[in-house]
Amino acid sequence: MSVAGEVTKDLVFEALGKVQEPELNSDLVSLDMIKELIIEEGKVSFAIELTTPACPLKSQIEAEARAAVESIPGVSSIEIRFTSNVPTDKRMTGEMGRLIRNTVAIASGKGGVGKTTVAVNVAVALARSGARVGLLDADIYGPNVPTMMGAEKLPPPRDNKMVPAEAYGVKVMSIGFLVPPDQPLIWRGPMLHSAIRQFISDVEWGELDYLIVDLPPGTGDAQLSLAQIIPLSGGVIVTLPQKVSLEDARRGLEMFRAMDVPILGIVENMSYLEMPDGRHVDVFGEGGGERLARDTGVSFIGSVPLDPEVRQAGDNGVPIILARPETKTAKSFIAVAEDLAAKVSVRAIGQTEGIPIQFID
Ligand SMILES: Nc1ncnc2c1ncn2[C@@H]1O[C@H](COP(=O)(O)OP(=O)(O)OP(=O)(O)O)[C@@H](O)[C@H]1O
Ligand SMILES: [Mg+2]
Repeated sequence: MSVAGEVTKDLVFEALGKVQEPELNSDLVSLDMIKELIIEEGKVSFAIELTTPACPLKSQIEAEARAAVESIPGVSSIEIRFTSNVPTDKRMTGEMGRLIRNTVAIASGKGGVGKTTVAVNVAVALARSGARVGLLDADIYGPNVPTMMGAEKLPPPRDNKMVPAEAYGVKVMSIGFLVPPDQPLIWRGPMLHSAIRQFISDVEWGELDYLIVDLPPGTGDAQLSLAQIIPLSGGVIVTLPQKVSLEDARRGLEMFRAMDVPILGIVENMSYLEMPDGRHVDVFGEGGGERLARDTGVSFIGSVPLDPEVRQAGDNGVPIILARPETKTAKSFIAVAEDLAAKVSVRAIGQTEGIPIQFID
């Protein structure tokens, strides 16, 4: 029995039951997000379990939860902690599904639009938020991930399994670690298949919340088979704002559709160049990525400016979100990573049934 002015768990749950999780269309209590609630006299402390540590709406959720609990008479202090439990894409089945919760492929129709740059910065941003992240360089023709991640070699194998390199908290695997840079990479179909397959099954990834896959440019057979060998839970298309790039991006979208890979959205890279006086110059046109998203009915994830520091950071092996975290460009990459993480979770939670992803031989 509660006496007047006494703060009870029921009262706290009732208050938090009125706070909506903005993306999941339900409240924090119904979603079972409130954990470890402790009340000592008027002191209330609890954890909010998010569906991704990179939740873009963390501060909004915290503010609303705090306001709700504050409105209970008798509450003298509130302590809110955040934890996370990333949901597993139900399409991830088998041995891999037990270890890797979500795989996200970064693709484009065209080469050189910034796929690898986006993949690297997204992976590092997610890892920095506290997620367990792997980065698989599936560009077996031009592996750029090791350079951009400043990773030189793999640690020695363990129990017949390759151990990924680790850079900035991200586990990294690339053919670039296995073949000297001056040796051409010529693949015949079956070799390519088995190489990529091994990157999934013969690498000790451990448990991952996200495996980010950097695909090679184009939408040919190689991309198709790669994307079928690696079970993908979602795809992201990178494009520049200009027309020719958008046409290629559209082919990239259709490639994902043909393979039944859910499209998480479009990232527009090199959107504009900011001049020292703050003016924006639209080097490659304007708004193309958003238009493409509208026309094709997919989400627009965000845009990243054209910034010489991105190139420098990439060449130096320190992604811009670490090298120059205070810049607008770094913040735009972080926003892209957070939006992606939120979309992955919303999709995984909304899945009613798993359509298993088939491995093909
Ligand atoms: N927003 C940006 N501003 C400036 N330079 C950028 C930006 N994004 C990428 N770059 C640079 O453009 C070049 C191409 O980028 P990146 O290698 O990421 O593209 P890609 O799509 O992966 O290319 P490929 O198709 O060859 O794999 C790199 O030198 C990179 O540093
Ligand atoms: Mg690349």
